[in-house]
Amino acid sequence: VNVYVLRIGHRFERDKRISTHLALTSRAFGAEKIFFDVKDSRVAESIGKITGGWGGDFKVEYSGKYAKTIREFEGDVIHLTMYGLPLDETLKKIKNSGKDKLVIVGGGKVPSEVYELADYNVSVGSQPHSEVAALAVFLDRLFEGKQFLKEFNGGKIIVPQARGKKVSEP
Ligand SMILES: C[S@@+](CC[C@H](N)C(=O)[O-])C[C@H]1O[C@@H](n2cnc3c(N)ncnc32)[C@H](O)[C@@H]1O
Repeated sequence: VNVYVLRIGHRFERDKRISTHLALTSRAFGAEKIFFDVKDSRVAESIGKITGGWGGDFKVEYSGKYAKTIREFEGDVIHLTMYGLPLDETLKKIKNSGKDKLVIVGGGKVPSEVYELADYNVSVGSQPHSEVAALAVFLDRLFEGKQFLKEFNGGKIIVPQARGKKVSEP
């Protein structure tokens, strides 16, 4: 099963860093690709700078209108929102479908259309927090921690240390 993330509502003047973090989190937590409905080349550049050398084939795509991306997606569409049904209640069904997943996270106010287009509106706790936190927890529960065993081919490899830094070059 492949997991994709759709970031909607990126605000050019204030979301550069958080949208970059969404991409990095998607990649590090096992997703294949992140779609953006708003083109901000500073974000792509920033992601490239950080991930360059760390391997794998995570992709960033500017997909245009979110409604089209959602409608054309073949698989389960999951919108993360604090107003949705609790993760614990919905996760089993989402996991068991065996279908690819498109996980939507918002920025500013999310249009009501997104709630209608999604197959599942899922909350990660019913308090407002952050799209990065919601995404990380959702992906971790979905992959049950196994995402951290994924290999990023061709990249530098961190040799974990109790103190200090050790990296082996590819
Ligand atoms: C800072 S919030 C603002 C959301 C906005 N006020 C709205 O819901 O229309 C940005 C994004 O974080 C995610 N998010 C924040 N809290 C969440 C929660 N408790 N559960 C799931 N997702 C959450 C959602 O994807 C949301 O669109």
